[in-house]
Amino acid sequence: MVAQVIDGKAFAAKVRGQVADQVAKLKEENGITPGLAVVLVGEDPASQVYVRSKGKMTVEVGMNSYEHKLDVETSEEDLLALIDKLNNDPAVHGILVQLPLPKHLNEDLVINSIDPAKDVDGFHISNVGLLGTGQKSMVPCTPLGCLMMLRDHHGSLSGLDAVVIGRSNIVGKPMAQLLLGDSCTVTIAHSRTKDLPDVVRRADIVVAAVGRPEMVPGDWIKEGATVIDVGINRIERDGKNKLVGDVDYASAAERAGAITPVPGGVGPMTIACLLANTLTACCRSNGLPEPEGLTA
Ligand code: GUN
Repeated sequence: MVAQVIDGKAFAAKVRGQVADQVAKLKEENGITPGLAVVLVGEDPASQVYVRSKGKMTVEVGMNSYEHKLDVETSEEDLLALIDKLNNDPAVHGILVQLPLPKHLNEDLVINSIDPAKDVDGFHISNVGLLGTGQKSMVPCTPLGCLMMLRDHHGSLSGLDAVVIGRSNIVGKPMAQLLLGDSCTVTIAHSRTKDLPDVVRRADIVVAAVGRPEMVPGDWIKEGATVIDVGINRIERDGKNKLVGDVDYASAAERAGAITPVPGGVGPMTIACLLANTLTACCRSNGLPEPEGLTA
């Protein structure tokens, strides 16, 4: 079998288009412009690239973008004061604090100081609890993007065997909750899992989110399975820098029914879902119906 390639770049462009249409409607019918505030502490080069990209796409879909770039030495007190100000600013519907934070700042404390209704990352402990109990929440962007692609490909996910490789709070755990919410039989595998190849071979859906370049070889993939590769790993091969996923794409594509490439798979969906979450937060805070197809 040669796998269908799930084009995340095209899918993300479609999601951003849907968000832009809804934003235009909100402005016209309700006089509301959704606003996203992004807070960056320090000058981590990868974070700077992400934040720039988020700001650009926020403006492209017609939302207001508020960027707060703080010195690497910023105190916890000053950062919490800024978050408090954003929590109370009616023009701000979504708040994202770019991670990782410098070591002297307590990440859990900072994230949990964001108003859960504005927590467009879905990292606040209240949103984690709401998702875990199947209640309406803000859903972390990367797993939400994976879910959208899986629903689009399969229609219903009900009864499918899903294996999530990786147990991070940002991807693995919320991904498992979302798949469970769509009635999959879910296994969370990780570095201590016994017989990982056999566990993966049972799966109709494999979500790989471990951050280890090409660790899942094609012969672990069940014939016809759907493979969602969350990994973005920079490696050097033949003297060149290259981005690869957590799955060995060439061998997996020979067995999978469908597979996301790296780059151009899950990656572009994360920012698209951040914009979708900002729109959702804006609609909820104004008592308006949520945008269809853009939430879990
Ligand atoms: N750093 C890398 N990915 C993310 C993300 O999705 N959200 C935040 N806040 N920081 C990140």
